[in-house]
Amino acid sequence: DEKLLNHDFIRLMDYQKQDLFYLLELAGQMKHNWQAGIHSKPLEGRVLGMLFMKPSTRTRVSFETGMSQLGGTGIYLEADQLQLGRGETMADTATALSGYLDGMLIRTFSQDMIDTFAAHATIPVINGLTDMYHPCQVLADLQTIREMKGALKGVRLTYLGDSNNVAHSLMIGAAMTGMDITIGTPDHCRPDEGVIQKASVIAGNSGSKMAITSEPVSAIRGADVVYTDVWTSMGQEYEQTDRQQMLEAYQVNAALLSEAKHDAIFMHCLPAHRGEEVTADVIDGKQSVVFQQAENRLHAQKALMMALMG
Ligand code: CP
Ligand code: NVA
Repeated sequence: DEKLLNHDFIRLMDYQKQDLFYLLELAGQMKHNWQAGIHSKPLEGRVLGMLFMKPSTRTRVSFETGMSQLGGTGIYLEADQLQLGRGETMADTATALSGYLDGMLIRTFSQDMIDTFAAHATIPVINGLTDMYHPCQVLADLQTIREMKGALKGVRLTYLGDSNNVAHSLMIGAAMTGMDITIGTPDHCRPDEGVIQKASVIAGNSGSKMAITSEPVSAIRGADVVYTDVWTSMGQEYEQTDRQQMLEAYQVNAALLSEAKHDAIFMHCLPAHRGEEVTADVIDGKQSVVFQQAENRLHAQKALMMALMG
């Protein structure tokens, strides 16, 4: 399938539903081959630039490892160490780097920054997290949910807490794949209005149901998947105290989780703060699949790089 070759992966909503399912199939194959010890190097000689303006453990290491496993190389680029740090524009950086690289991964703050880079780059650009979205995370999460629940359509996912980048991508991902999604979040932390609109339209077409409520107990009732993320995302540290107060009632603890289905799984993109958005007994307990999610980042992103750069 060469349909996705040279495409960017910046927002899930830029993709067709069937392309998303194609990536999930390929991710499954990647995982199977890796587990079976079957190695091939389809990206031999290819180089992925990896520009980070925020810290990362999983994204950085899974992309760099994935690229090596496929025969290519990942180059970690810290914004401050580039001329970007001295004021060179994103546009000039994109044009220059397109002359060397076969693909570019970017983790940054504003969505504008990655859009500007992509507008000037002639190579595929992958979103490794912005303030608005985290599509690579949700690609791996969809793979994980499918593994655990056997399907996506009709699965009920409840996201509790801050309606951040991960929540936004989950809304779009759920709407595209026919999952039902409920966001339990305080009025002050509601999802971006534009994302709600977009997700509603996509959900309308796929038959997925979407709800947003400030009531945590009714939000979690009947859930197959319970998902949370940090209350204070990277770049919001100055609001931490306010956020802890606002979000207290949305902590995923054993009592709240018991309102979900008995076989519900618990998900978190990590890193986690035990005692804040989730208690230790939940994230370290039997229902938690957080490290399966983390591992699937490797397989899902190998599939993505194969499709865009293969
Ligand atoms: N989940 C995730 O993207 O983790 P990192 O910040 O460690 O990359
Ligand atoms: N919402 C978190 C996700 C980290 C992977 C953040 O943006 O910091």
